Amino acid sequence: MKRIITYGTFDMLHYGHINLLKRAKEMGDYLIVVLSTDEFNWDSKQKKTYFSYEKRKQLLEAIRYVDLVIPEESWDQKVNDVTLYQVDTFVMGDDWRNQFDFIQDETNTEVVYLERTPEISTTQIKKDLNSKNLVTEHKSEM
Ligand code: CTP
Repeated sequence: MKRIITYGTFDMLHYGHINLLKRAKEMGDYLIVVLSTDEFNWDSKQKKTYFSYEKRKQLLEAIRYVDLVIPEESWDQKVNDVTLYQVDTFVMGDDWRNQFDFIQDETNTEVVYLERTPEISTTQIKKDLNSKNLVTEHKSEM
């Protein structure tokens, strides 16, 4: 069985996330998502998510491509995770290109960067929802 692993926050789940998870799963048989905890997001990135860890986890577990969701609590756990779960392929979006090549050097795990889906991100959704234009557009459609 070929095992795949990927990491992320996956807040306000959107089609860019689904595309990434679908392609990751197609690379093997079993997909593990390592989901950033609320504490890790705050302590390491000063990022506050809209949905809590438990809610983000519940959403991911409902996706057919995802087999297991485990917490990401530190930057340094990756080599340990891929070894512990006997992972064949480590997958990330190409916004992280080359940043995890060390995993390939230190373990037997192959590292692959998948092209990001253009023009969508959690940050962009938040920005659009905040923008006056979008509110006006929706009002005029009602
Ligand atoms: N991802 C993707 N295409 C997008 C958005 C995200 O392939 N349009 C991928 C990322 O490259 C990463 C995973 O989905 O491998 C989780 O990304 P995450 O940072 O949680 O999502 P973003 O929408 O990029 O969130 P933010 O705007 O908060 O950075």
